[in-house]
Amino acid sequence: MANNETILVTGGCGFIGCNFVRMMINKHPEVEIVNFDALTYAGNLDNLTDVMDSSQYHFVRGDIQDAALVSKVIADYEISGIINFAAESHVDRSITGPKVFIDTNVSGTLNLLQQANEHGIKRYLQVSTDEVYGSLGATGAFTEESPLCPNSPYSASKTAADHFVRAYHHTFGLDTIVTRCSNNYGPYQFPEKLIPLMFNNARIDKPLPVYGDGANVRDWIYVNDHCEAIWAAFTKGTPGEVYNFGGASERNNLEVVKAILSYFNKPDSLIKFVKDRLGHDQRYAIDATKALTTLDWKPSVTFEEGLKMTLDWYSTNQKWIDNVTSGEYKSYYKKMYESEG
Ligand code: NAD
Ligand code: TYD
Repeated sequence: MANNETILVTGGCGFIGCNFVRMMINKHPEVEIVNFDALTYAGNLDNLTDVMDSSQYHFVRGDIQDAALVSKVIADYEISGIINFAAESHVDRSITGPKVFIDTNVSGTLNLLQQANEHGIKRYLQVSTDEVYGSLGATGAFTEESPLCPNSPYSASKTAADHFVRAYHHTFGLDTIVTRCSNNYGPYQFPEKLIPLMFNNARIDKPLPVYGDGANVRDWIYVNDHCEAIWAAFTKGTPGEVYNFGGASERNNLEVVKAILSYFNKPDSLIKFVKDRLGHDQRYAIDATKALTTLDWKPSVTFEEGLKMTLDWYSTNQKWIDNVTSGEYKSYYKKMYESEG
């Protein structure tokens, strides 16, 4: 990346996006960032209060489906690269309301690709997910060559977006990169996802709702390690390629929930097994050999180190969690977890 380039980061007020923007402001003063975010329930301006006054940082509120606004922002700020984090990201919400997942994840991505192509953007990076590969049995790991077999409406929409990225590279020669990462955890994650939800419940002795038997396995990665991987792929990746990232930390859900309870010195009796998620993927695991060998990147923390950092952050930022759980979250939680009794 040359000096004084300006990158459009979409979804920079969400969980991974805000950690990425913070990393860029603190570690890469040569790059300007325009954060373009619709501020949905998952987007929060407070996630970036510590960097919002930086001259390197600009914020525009907007929807990635808005062709005229995206075009204007690219022109006004002389954008040279795009990193697309913006998405509807929660599997459970995609089961109860899939339409918005098509709107943002598919139509929004298509609009960004179209604008990138029209404006001669030098590089477009799509932040995708390992969930596009579907579910694994007890052994094996996803490589970049694994077939795409999405099982949830969320992963189906992310897969459709990945196909459009591929098509824009193939058809128009757009310089694209797709990154597929495993489950992230860390500061600023909205408490609809497993780790912050369980933290928030354990803290106030509310039951911890584990889906099914709790044996589903995820490959956990600390969010900063994912952000470093995205920047490595953006700056060192080969056009048209896909890169998998993972934390090499497979844990089943029960192990994760018990680790959170033990952080608080609280009993496992707080665990409540609830009705399983429809179509629940059994296991995700990542083979990150390609990123490890070609991007000069590797995860920096173990799951135990990252989890401790994360739970300490939530403990000292109780106000953040109180703010984001004060509004819509209450009715979401009631609908998802209290309706089954
Ligand atoms: P998030 O839900 O926390 O944040 C999404 C952000 O996108 C929010 O700030 C929201 O306001 C914004 N947004 C939503 N719709 C928009 C629209 N139409 N226009 C503009 N902005 C919009 O999500 P996250 O967990 O930070 O995930 C970021 C990206 O990483 C997503 O593309 C997701 O698929 C991918 N990903 C997430 C994980 C994970 O574990 N969280 C793992 C792999 C990949
Ligand atoms: P989640 O954080 O929603 O991520 P994803 O579904 O994208 O992997 O869920 C992680 C795992 O935790 C998944 O197997 C579902 C499970 N889970 C629960 O058991 N209870 C919960 O309340 C939530 C939100 C998730």
